[in-house]
Amino acid sequence: MKGVILAGGLGTRLYPLTHVTNKHLLPVYNKPMVFYPIKTLVDAGIDEILIVTSGPHVGHFLSVLKNGKELGAKHLEYAYQEKPNGGIADALALAEDFADGEDIAVILGDNTTDESIKEAVTSFKEGATVFLKKVTDPERFGVPAFDPKDNSKVIRIDEKPKNPASEYAVTGVYLYDNKIFDMIRECDPNYAGRGELEITQVNNLYIDKGQLHWKELEGFWSDAGTFQSLFTSSEYWSKKK
Ligand code: TTP
Repeated sequence: MKGVILAGGLGTRLYPLTHVTNKHLLPVYNKPMVFYPIKTLVDAGIDEILIVTSGPHVGHFLSVLKNGKELGAKHLEYAYQEKPNGGIADALALAEDFADGEDIAVILGDNTTDESIKEAVTSFKEGATVFLKKVTDPERFGVPAFDPKDNSKVIRIDEKPKNPASEYAVTGVYLYDNKIFDMIRECDPNYAGRGELEITQVNNLYIDKGQLHWKELEGFWSDAGTFQSLFTSSEYWSKKK
């Protein structure tokens, strides 16, 4: 399996910090944010990694990550998302040549977790696996609705719902087979009314095909895209032994 880190977007919620550099290079405790998802991939045995980025500060990645050797990556590649807020699925579409027919593990560049995904990576067969986490504010995320008769099945994912169907968030950690790229071609930028290609639509297409699996992330997980979550992530990692 190959790894993809999505580090595009505009990071507007972290202005004025993101006027200076890309969100994913800001510090989470003592490291640039993007080091954490890279470590999650490398620890899962994935050492061919694509970083998709965008915006005015893309050059900064090279001086920080170089060829990725210091972080345990055997091969590090970069792609440029021309429309910086085209959406997560728009950024992911750029990974098609890199994936070259293989399955991919995808992590949003502002997500950090101390949970290992190695077992899920090793046992992955087909379709999609999303990682869920119980949260107190599910309305900020994609929220799964479970089959009332069989809660091992997610029957739909609602994007930022006003009335969440469960207490779970779909985190920014996903495993996909290579059909993902055909699914993205089916996506509609008006799906959630914000002109973005939504990963939630992609995941719902996998549900329609009966091929969406889920696992709960047991350890710490947070995004770091707001001042509050950037702070709590830094605090967590500063105390981590
Ligand atoms: P978001 O935090 O939803 O979007 P953003 O990074 O543009 O930030 P803001 O809302 O504050 O303007 O995106 C989550 C992650 O997904 C982000 O860390 C990087 C990735 N992403 C892309 O790679 N391309 C995109 O077009 C978008 C929207 C996000």
